Amino acid sequence: MTVDNNGFILNDGSVLPFLGLGTIGIDGDQGTFEILNALNLGYRLIDTSTNYNNEGIVGEAVRRSALPREEILISAKLPGSHHEYDKAFIFIQESLRRTGLKYFDKYLIHWPNPKDGKYVEAWQALVDAQKQGLLRTIGVSNFEPEHLDNIIEETGVTPATNQVERQPYFNNNRMVEENKKRGILTEAWSPFGRGYLNDVLENATIKEIADKYDKTPAQIILNWNYQAGVFAIPKSSNPTHQRENINSTSFELTPEDMEKMDSLDKGESGRVEGQDPYEYHEYV
Ligand SMILES: NC(=O)c1ccc[n+]([C@@H]2O[C@H](COP(=O)([O-])OP(=O)(O)OC[C@H]3O[C@@H](n4cnc5c(N)ncnc54)[C@H](OP(=O)(O)O)[C@@H]3O)[C@@H](O)[C@H]2O)c1
Repeated sequence: MTVDNNGFILNDGSVLPFLGLGTIGIDGDQGTFEILNALNLGYRLIDTSTNYNNEGIVGEAVRRSALPREEILISAKLPGSHHEYDKAFIFIQESLRRTGLKYFDKYLIHWPNPKDGKYVEAWQALVDAQKQGLLRTIGVSNFEPEHLDNIIEETGVTPATNQVERQPYFNNNRMVEENKKRGILTEAWSPFGRGYLNDVLENATIKEIADKYDKTPAQIILNWNYQAGVFAIPKSSNPTHQRENINSTSFELTPEDMEKMDSLDKGESGRVEGQDPYEYHEYV
């Protein structure tokens, strides 16, 4: 994984922009307009999942946008209920039908659900669906080193990205490093703690740094991710916030301010919902 002016270059040669749009809570007809607004502002990657109940409107926004299909990247996820190989394959086909798209630009296994022990089968299904042209880039989410090593060893295919929780109170630098060692790009979910699961956007240290650069706390958090080589997917329905977020990579935090951001980490207790991937069982 490397970076150039266009974005993050993945280990499969494809390119991700510096930021994407998260979509938990972006749904219904209003949600279509929120996604269209983001596309008009310059967002080029939309992160969705079956359990966000919005695959239909994500596809609708792609069709209504004036942008050509190939300029919009849609990233979706395989739920825990469909890790068995055959089920995974059918789920991907159904998910494509729900969006009305012919392929997903990026597709992730949502959680490893290690107690079920079927994530290797699921990964094999993604590898084969990619060969059939249903998926372009394939990756995982919430995978720990052991899970990454198992799928790489069993299939010979390294995921391009690993989407994990990362926000100032749980910076997950451990997984950022583990991913980097394996040539995998880290994606940061819930960069603002969903806005109500913690108070990172109100944190005094982050506000102080924001004042220094004449930026907002949200822009500081996103820039901290960008400078750490992490692809963040903040959710916003609000046009002002969407604009603010997409304009967060044009300044540079000093190494001291990057360190100050890192120092806000609270370890395991900083996770927004205590979801340890070794224990957490996602089943949609
Ligand atoms: N792989 C996984 O297991 C996993 C888990 C959780 C999330 N995700 C993905 O990560 C995405 C982002 O995480 P998230 O939805 O949990 O929440 P988030 O991005 O951490 O926070 C969203 C909240 O922040 C507010 N916000 C956004 N921009 C702001 C700004 N510039 N100033 C002030 N407030 C701002 C939003 O309000 P407004 O809408 O009003 O702007 C919303 O309330 C999700 O939508 C989803 O796509 C993945």
